[in-house]
Amino acid sequence: MDILRGLKKEGSIRYVGITHFRAGYNQELAAAIRKHNPDFVQLGYSLNQISTETDLLPIAKDLDIAVMVNRPYGRGSMFRKVRGRPLPDWAKEFDANSWSQFFLKYILGHPTVTCVIPGTDKVKYMLDNLGAGRGTMPDAAMRKRMLNYWQKL
Ligand SMILES: NC(=O)c1ccc[n+]([C@@H]2O[C@H](COP(=O)([O-])OP(=O)(O)OC[C@H]3O[C@@H](n4cnc5c(N)ncnc54)[C@H](OP(=O)(O)O)[C@@H]3O)[C@@H](O)[C@H]2O)c1
Repeated sequence: MDILRGLKKEGSIRYVGITHFRAGYNQELAAAIRKHNPDFVQLGYSLNQISTETDLLPIAKDLDIAVMVNRPYGRGSMFRKVRGRPLPDWAKEFDANSWSQFFLKYILGHPTVTCVIPGTDKVKYMLDNLGAGRGTMPDAAMRKRMLNYWQKL
């Protein structure tokens, strides 16, 4: 971190961040964030990994650290649970037109999240994912409904 801070000071890099992706490492990541106070953290967060909401997001908020979310689909595994299932009607209320947008909007609706980085090598998926950045975002009450729905599937 000293080396990275040096590079930032001399203008070679603009931001310094810390990252992990597994919920099992939340405590180590939390300790590293507290110790190093980076500009941003990249972490795993999704409807399938909500321990991030209690373990990490409050620390990022307190320290005013930007949050980049990785693995928003649990490496694609979340799509298995909804295969062949239509979106609930109320997904229209926050402009979600696909399950991927439903998953991404849950993340983007959290006030501490800065951005999300879904992975794909397919243009059609990328366009679908970009759609999650448009329209209404779910508020706290809607996010609760989304989580509840997901957990009952
Ligand atoms: N810093 C870290 O420690 C760390 C750890 C893990 C991941 N990451 C980063 O986080 C990003 C995302 O991680 P990830 O790719 O492992 O997991 P992910 O984004 O949770 O899931 C990717 C999977 O979702 C599928 N997918 C993407 N968009 C879709 C769509 N609209 N509809 C249906 N399926 C869709 C992809 O399919 P296709 O393969 O068919 O395109 C791929 O199988 C990557 O940039 C990765 O490098 C960072």
